[in-house]
Amino acid sequence: MRTELTYAATLPANTSTAVLVPGRDQLPQELFSQDELDYINRQLELKSTLVVLNKYTHQLYLVLTEPRKKENETHEALRKAGNTLHQRLSADKVDTVVLLDAADAEAALFVAEGLVLSNYSFQRYKTEKAVAPTLKSVVVTGVGVTETQVTELSNLLDAVYQTRDLINTPPNMQTATQLSEQIQEMLQDTGVEIEILDQVQIQSLKMGGLLSVNQASDESATFNILEWKPQNATNAQPVILVGKGVVYDTGGLSLKPTPNSMDYMKSDMSGAAAVAGTLYAIAKNNVPLHVIGLIPATDNLISGKGFAPGDVISMHSGHTVEVLNTDAEGRLILADALHFAKRYNPSLVIDIATLTGAAARAVGREGIVMMGTADEMLKSELKLAGEAAHERLVEFPLWEEYQDHLKSEIADLKNIGGAEAGAISAGKFLEFFTNYPWIHLDIAGTAYLLSPDSYRGKHATGSSVRLLYHFLTSQATA
Ligand code: BES
Ligand code: MN
Ligand code: ZN
Repeated sequence: MRTELTYAATLPANTSTAVLVPGRDQLPQELFSQDELDYINRQLELKSTLVVLNKYTHQLYLVLTEPRKKENETHEALRKAGNTLHQRLSADKVDTVVLLDAADAEAALFVAEGLVLSNYSFQRYKTEKAVAPTLKSVVVTGVGVTETQVTELSNLLDAVYQTRDLINTPPNMQTATQLSEQIQEMLQDTGVEIEILDQVQIQSLKMGGLLSVNQASDESATFNILEWKPQNATNAQPVILVGKGVVYDTGGLSLKPTPNSMDYMKSDMSGAAAVAGTLYAIAKNNVPLHVIGLIPATDNLISGKGFAPGDVISMHSGHTVEVLNTDAEGRLILADALHFAKRYNPSLVIDIATLTGAAARAVGREGIVMMGTADEMLKSELKLAGEAAHERLVEFPLWEEYQDHLKSEIADLKNIGGAEAGAISAGKFLEFFTNYPWIHLDIAGTAYLLSPDSYRGKHATGSSVRLLYHFLTSQATA
């Protein structure tokens, strides 16, 4: 269920309105009576940041967010204020709210972002509709914001919703083939072309990583090629996004060892969903950049025909890999996609994957682990986009000594490293299959939350869609 997000040139009458105030001295006096001003000031004395006035035909909310030291911190505080406002609007059962920045600046955009993202819920399999969110529509007004900005944000948040929907879809509704169809449906009418390679085509490409992970399954693997190529693209060589599309990860024969660790492994296609979501956002907003998405998709199941620890497999690149843990499957399917990416002569390849528990343990749900061979300039532009979107990146090194962690005695490399530096050895494995500027994003900590966190909510967050959107738009105008 979408939350409508629109722009209004003038303040609609008798509609619940949240007035955003950057400081106590900037109350828009004309909106309030003297009694109301006295009440508001008393509340502000008590350090309230949200004051509610009942106007009988509607509610008036006063949201106080004082600027922080850095602009990005202020923007994040505004998104979080959007989440706080959401709780109050839900309690009041408001269905339309207007956001107005009393300082005539852009605050309403960030509050809208936090508010709309907080209003997401996954209701597809509820047969009783009573729990549907009451908030249906958010209207942004004020001279500091343009209709174009609101439309752009609306498309981006729509992309995040669709990404979350893909991830939250349970595994029995999402085989690799169904995931391909779901992505196809999501991208129809956007101008993004999608080509879905089936099992036979994957076999003729000799994608041994993808085929081995898929070997235990009764369901075919798919390899999905998404392409957004606008006439006015400003780049001659494409940017490629590669997303891990493991629709369900049991670990295979190296069955997941930790209690309950399989419960949420429907989210192991979060990288794939983020790629589809990002393409949706850039296409809807007509971003003038040639971008290709590559998604290898399969489940990682158990059966007598499955691949086994000890197997040596032959990859799409022709290299051999000794499989010592079938639960390190993501890197195998990504390696084939990264080798496939070479045929496009890309200027940059970014892969996005729920790749290692080690990345989640290292930085928690607060950040995304990043590694890469792209030049410092590109990496710092991506980090800046991370700060702007508040999807922050922590860079790990790819020192050559880590390559030793992957030495196999009988094949070109093995698919696991040692007990230490697990996020890095996974990145190192991927690097082996690249020969272009490349960045790896491990979203294992951020993609799926078991307890709610402000506007990221609970369960699928849509991690990295807003990050990649910010980054790609910065590349298009560069
Ligand atoms: N999908 C998992 C990683 C994961 C763990 C994502 C927790 C989200 C939450 C991945 O396929 C995996 O199993 N990785 C192993 C690698 C190990 C066997 C080298 C891991 O992290 O334990
Ligand atoms: Mn695994
Ligand atoms: Zn996995």
